[in-house]
Amino acid sequence: MDQSIGISSGNAKLDQHLELLPPGLVKHLVRAYNKAIELATLHDVDTKKAGLAALCHDIARSIKGDELHRLAIRYGLQIHPLEDIHRVLLHGPVGAEMLSDCFGINDGEVLEAVRWHTTFNCGLSSIAKVTYLADKLDRNKAHRFSDMAGKNLLARNDMDRAVLAFLEEEISSIVSIGKEVHPAAVQGRDRLRELIY
Ligand SMILES: [Fe+2]
Ligand SMILES: [Fe+2]
Repeated sequence: MDQSIGISSGNAKLDQHLELLPPGLVKHLVRAYNKAIELATLHDVDTKKAGLAALCHDIARSIKGDELHRLAIRYGLQIHPLEDIHRVLLHGPVGAEMLSDCFGINDGEVLEAVRWHTTFNCGLSSIAKVTYLADKLDRNKAHRFSDMAGKNLLARNDMDRAVLAFLEEEISSIVSIGKEVHPAAVQGRDRLRELIY
């Protein structure tokens, strides 16, 4: 279904592609874009880059697991054993490759933000923090995280603490069901703990 998203990425080919994504996904991207602009403005982060990263962060989210796996191999990505089992985890890294390969987006901060928007990682830029938070603060994720209003307020005041709050909660819920946590999430959490405490 063709739909207008009402926001331009500044790249006509990319806009056309985004408009063809599933409607629910497009709505999530638009909400993430709006949240990214809000946070970037508050924290004096480049709104153009943050908005672009948020608008396209899930560009590969509707691609099926086996196809994501095939694309990851084609792009020469290192596939962690966890990503081999839960192939949806590849949608960030594959999305970043697609943005560069198919749409000529080569801004390192934008690509990094898209690549790590699911797990986060250590040493990421403010663009990646805005993108991670804009994705997680979506109202449709309220069932996954506690106190979204508090986390939203935290994100407006201190992005590092807000990212850490999401990571701590996500990691403990994965550990509590006896599952393995992606090492990038652990490294991201550990670095933020060092920075904050
Ligand atoms: Fe995603
Ligand atoms: Fe998302």
